[in-house]
Amino acid sequence: MTDLANVGVVGMAVMGSNLARNLAHKGHSVAVFNRTASRTDAMIAEHGTEGDFRPAHELADFVASLERPRRIIIMVKAGAPTDATIDALVPLLEEGDIVVDGGNAFFEDTRRREEKLRGLGLHFVGAGISGGEVGALEGPSIMPGGSRESYEALGPILESISAKVDGEPCCTYIGTDGAGHFVKMIHNGIEYADMQFIGEAFELLKGLGLSYPEMADVFATWNTGDLDSYLIEITSEVLRKVDAATGRPLVEVIVDAAGMKGTGTWTIQSALNLGTPVNAIAEAVFARAISSSPALRASAQKALTGPDGKVDVADRDAFIEQIREALWASKVVAYAQGLDEIRMAAEQYGWDINVGEVAKIWRAGCIIRARLLERIRSEYAAGNLVTLIEAPSIASGLADAQDGWREVVATAVRAGVPVPGFSAALAHYDQARAPRLNAALTQGLRDYFGAHTYRRIDREGAFHTNWSTDG
Ligand code: NAP
Ligand code: ATR
Repeated sequence: MTDLANVGVVGMAVMGSNLARNLAHKGHSVAVFNRTASRTDAMIAEHGTEGDFRPAHELADFVASLERPRRIIIMVKAGAPTDATIDALVPLLEEGDIVVDGGNAFFEDTRRREEKLRGLGLHFVGAGISGGEVGALEGPSIMPGGSRESYEALGPILESISAKVDGEPCCTYIGTDGAGHFVKMIHNGIEYADMQFIGEAFELLKGLGLSYPEMADVFATWNTGDLDSYLIEITSEVLRKVDAATGRPLVEVIVDAAGMKGTGTWTIQSALNLGTPVNAIAEAVFARAISSSPALRASAQKALTGPDGKVDVADRDAFIEQIREALWASKVVAYAQGLDEIRMAAEQYGWDINVGEVAKIWRAGCIIRARLLERIRSEYAAGNLVTLIEAPSIASGLADAQDGWREVVATAVRAGVPVPGFSAALAHYDQARAPRLNAALTQGLRDYFGAHTYRRIDREGAFHTNWSTDG
C-alpha cells in the first residue's frame, strides 16, 4: 500500500506554512504545495524536521500524494488567487474530495464556489480561521461551513489543530455554504468594535491626565475582571511600550490613521442588506475611515473649535470605574449586534447556526477571545434568545453598568472627546428597550409626502391620511 498523506495545504506564506506545521505537530502527514516552488523549499528547509511533510513542486504530484477523500486546505490570497488555485485543482480531483478555503473570503464568493464545486461532485468548505500567524501555528479558532458530510471527514483534523478550552475544540460545524466565512466576517466586525471601544477608553483616560504607564496599569487591572480578554491584555502591553528612538510612548509616535482590509466594511454592508442594526460596529468602521481622511481632518482642524478633550471630574477613580462600565456594556452590545446579524443571515440563507456554539469556539484561539464569551455561550445554551441583551445575566449586568455608561458618554460629549462607539451602543440599548420609537412620526412624514401609508396600533390594514384635509 502506498503511504499517502492525510491532508494537504496549498499556499506556503505565513498562514499556510504555520497551519501545515500545526497539522504535522499533531501527527498528521501533510502534503504541501506553493505556486512558487522556492517558497515550499524554504518552508521545508526551515521546518521539515518538525513532522511528516510531503513537499511537491507540481500540483498534480501534490494531489496524487493525498489519501482519499482528499482533504486540501487552500491558504492563499483571498479573491482572484483563490479562484485561480481552485480552478487549477479541480481537474485533478475526484468525486467526494474536499477543498477547504481557509482564507478570508467574502461569504458570497464562498457560496458561489461551493455551488460550482457541488455541481462537480466535490465538497467545498469555506473555513474562517482566526488567530493570525501565532494562532495558525499554536491553535486557531476555526469556523468551517459546507456540507455536513464533508465535516465528518474533515472535522476531526480541524478540531485536532484548533485551540482548546477545557479540552473542547474551538472548531465546530457552522452551517452550509458560506456560513463559516460569514461567521468569521462577524468575528472581525466585533473585533473592530472591541478595538474602537478600547480606543475611546484610552482617550478618556488620557483626558483625565493619566500617564501611559498609569493607563497600562488600568488596562492590566481591568484584565483581571469581567473585561478579561486578549485585546485588553495586549492594550496594556502596547501602552507600556516606549519608543527606543525618541524615549516617548510608542503609541504617541504612531500615525493616528487606522488601516483596514475590509471585513468590517463587509459586516456593515451585509447588515444593511439584512436590515439588522449594527450601529456600534458601524461606528468602529467609520472611526477608522475618519482617521484615514487626512484632507478632511486637516481642513476641519483649521476651521472648527470646541473643548480640548480634557476630562474634569470630581472623583478620578470613580470615573475610571465608570469608563470600565461603559467599555463592558458597549462590548456586550457589539457582541449582541454581531450575533443578531448571524441569526438574521441564518434565516435569510437557510443556515442552521447554533449561536451559542459560535460563542463557544470564540473563547480561545481568536482575536476577540474574552471571558465574556463563556457567559454568552451559557446564556444561549440556557434559553432560546432573540437577542443576547435580553439574557438574564447580561440584562442585569447592563442595568448595573448603565449609570456609569451614561455618565461617561455625557462627560465625553461635554469634554469634546469623541465616543461614537460608546454612544452608539448606548443608543442601541435605549432603542431596543423603548416601548415606543420615533418611527411613528417617521411613518407619518412618509405618508404625508409620499402616500407610503402606515399601520395603526388599534386596527389591521394599511392607512393613508390626506394630511391637509382629513379629520
Ligand atoms: P497572503 O500574503 O495573503 O498570500 C500569499 C500566498 O498566496 C502565497 O502562497 C502565494 O503564492 C499565493 N498566491 C498569491 N497569488 C496567487 C495566485 N494568483 N495563484 C496561486 N497562488 C497565489 O498569505 P497569508 O498572510 O499567509 O494569508 C493566507 C490567507 O489567509 C489569506 O486569504 C488571508 O486573508 C488569510 N488569513 C490571514 C491571516 C493573517 O493574520 N495573515 C489571518 C487569517 C486569515 P506565491 O508564493 O506563489 O506568490
Ligand atoms: P485573524 O482573524 O486571524 O485575526 P485577520 O482577520 O486577517 O486575522 O486580521 C486580524 C486583524 O488584523 C483585523 O482587525 C484586520 O483588520 P482588517 O480586516 O481591517 O484588515 C487587521 N489587519 C490585518 N492585516 C492588516 C493590514 N494590512 N492593515 C490593517 N489592518 C490589518
